[in-house]
Formats: sequence, structure tokens, C-alpha cells
Amino acid sequence: MKKIQISPSILSADFSQLGNEIKRLEDAGADMIHVDVMDGHFVPNLTIGPPVIKALKKQSSMIFDVHLMISPVHKYIDAYSDAGADIITIHPEATDDLSSSISKIKQLNKKVGVSLNPETKVDVIREHLNEIELVLIMSVNPGFGGQKFMPEVLVKIKELKEIQKTQNLNFDIEIDGGINFDNSKEAIEAGANILVSGTTIFKSNNGDIKKNIELLKSK
Ligand code: DX5
Ligand code: ZN
Repeated sequence: MKKIQISPSILSADFSQLGNEIKRLEDAGADMIHVDVMDGHFVPNLTIGPPVIKALKKQSSMIFDVHLMISPVHKYIDAYSDAGADIITIHPEATDDLSSSISKIKQLNKKVGVSLNPETKVDVIREHLNEIELVLIMSVNPGFGGQKFMPEVLVKIKELKEIQKTQNLNFDIEIDGGINFDNSKEAIEAGANILVSGTTIFKSNNGDIKKNIELLKSK
């Protein structure tokens, strides 16, 4: 079994202190940093773009797990790669040609992730799974932090675990949205090995992020 990793979403961090917040996450034992990029078009919210990621990456050696909720995504892959993204995750609905967007990310020597919205079926990416290195299962509709976890998406994780077994594949399974100390166990049991969390990490236990990271990892 893969080691359980935590990818805190800086969407819930203090945006006036982002550099310090990332340092704080690193000191607290975060395995990577989840950066939610939203365009006000693919999702109804707007967040940060390449210049901010570039500035943050200069200050940190952490893995930047960049979740692109932008459409059309293909033409922006270069910019996020140049800015310092280590993992680039895209949504199949945001590109005309998933195969060429996956190839593009791989050509740039970045880890390629594909994300499934709660409504999106595993079938949409089935034929690409031998090229994908990470599947990000959305357990809320993307766009905002602090939403309620949707347990019905866990069956897709089980489906992906079956495919991994039968096809001998080894991609990471990450889950994103509404993760808390109760449902983290369910998600891990279903087969997720990377948990994204914003609200729980930054707001629970008076913002004791070290404790919150440990609690999310413990089964
Ligand atoms: C939602 C984002 C998530 C979200 C996680 O569109 O992709 O990363 O911010 O935040 P919480 O843990 O608050 O649901
Ligand atoms: Zn995300």
C-alpha cells in the first residue's frame, strides 16, 4: 500500500501571508502544497495564476500540486509548468483533446493528473489511465473551499483500485473537497493515498496545522 500523503490547499490560507503559510505547512509535515487555480469560467470563482505560483515556488522546495480549474486549459499548461508546478492536474471537460494535453504535461517532465468532478464517470479517462500518474477525485463540485463532502464519489475510487489491479497500474489516487477527520478514514479505506484539505487543516483545532495533518493521516 502507498504511504498516505497530505496536500494542504492554500485556498484556506491567509492570502496576505502566502509565503509564510507555505513555510508553516512545510514545518508542520505537509507532503506537498495543493494550489487551486480557478478562472471564473470553468468554475465560478477566481484565484491565483502563474506569477503568484512562481514567486511562491522561489521560496519553497515543496512539491507544488497544481489543480487547474480553467478552460480551455491546454494553452496555459506551459505557463504553469514554467511557474514551477510539479504536478499538473486538469479536468477532461476543460480540454478538446485530453490525450494531447496529457502528452504535453509529460513532455514538460511534470507529473500528470486528471480530475473527475462528482458527476464525471471513470469511463471518461479509462483509455488514458496507462498514461495518467494521478487521478484526482473531486468530493465536492469544484469552485469553493468549505463545502460538504459527497460520499457517493468513493465508489469511483474503488473502481479505480480494481482497474489498477487488473491492468497492473500504479497511479496515485487523490481526493479533494470537504475532507475532515471523520471521512478521511473512509477515503483512505476506499483507496485514496493523497488527501487534499483546506478548511480542516487551517481552521480545525484553532489552526494547529501540525496536529491537523497528523490527525488526517491517522487511520
Ligand atoms: C475546490 C478545491 C479544493 C478545496 C478544498 O474547488 O479544489 O481544493 O479548496 O478545500 P476544503 O478542504 O475546504 O473542501
Ligand atoms: Zn483542488
